[in-house]
Amino acid sequence: MPEPEIRLIRMDDRERVVRFFAQMAPDSRSFFNRRNGNLNWALRYFDGTDRQAMRRWVAVEGDEMVGYVFLWDTDTMIPWLGIAVAERMRGRHFGQKLIETAEAWCRSQGKGGILLTTHMANVRAQALYERCGFERLGVYGANNELLYLRRF
Ligand SMILES: CC(C)(COP(=O)(O)OP(=O)(O)OC[C@H]1O[C@@H](n2cnc3c(N)ncnc32)[C@H](O)[C@@H]1OP(=O)(O)O)[C@@H](O)C(=O)NCCC(=O)NCCS
Repeated sequence: MPEPEIRLIRMDDRERVVRFFAQMAPDSRSFFNRRNGNLNWALRYFDGTDRQAMRRWVAVEGDEMVGYVFLWDTDTMIPWLGIAVAERMRGRHFGQKLIETAEAWCRSQGKGGILLTTHMANVRAQALYERCGFERLGVYGANNELLYLRRF
């Protein structure tokens, strides 16, 4: 099976995005889509109501969305990153491909790095970020998440 295609999100992706969030298992939802936060944020693209400067990529296999990576605060030197892969793609290091896509864009724009946070219990995400060269800076924010920085 060829690798999924990673491309910028398009206006005709709305249903794919909704289905992608619907296939998430409970642990993924609890880490990534608590109170539908990231779904609602993604839908802002289609509604034209983004508040931060965003850039979003989707991975698609046939007509199915199997990955999502996005940046916000792209009008700053160090944007923030969010990521999720479809349940059936987990554990195949596909997240790394998505991060590399976002990182290549940041480098092409002369950014200084990428920031992100993750839940203390999200050990899969931490393994991915550390393999991708992110360094753990400490505990951050009201939810006691871990703060990571990839410094270019
Ligand atoms: C976090 C996420 C993006 C990681 O992507 P991925 O492509 O599955 O990542 P990997 O294949 O590199 O797996 C990451 C690590 O998880 C660990 N892992 C794999 N299977 C595991 C399992 N069943 N239980 C616990 N850890 C596991 C491994 O340590 C692996 O790293 P290694 O193979 O180098 O040792 C993906 O799991 C996901 O979408 N999760 C739900 C959404 C989410 O949590 N997003 C991040 C919010 S901050």
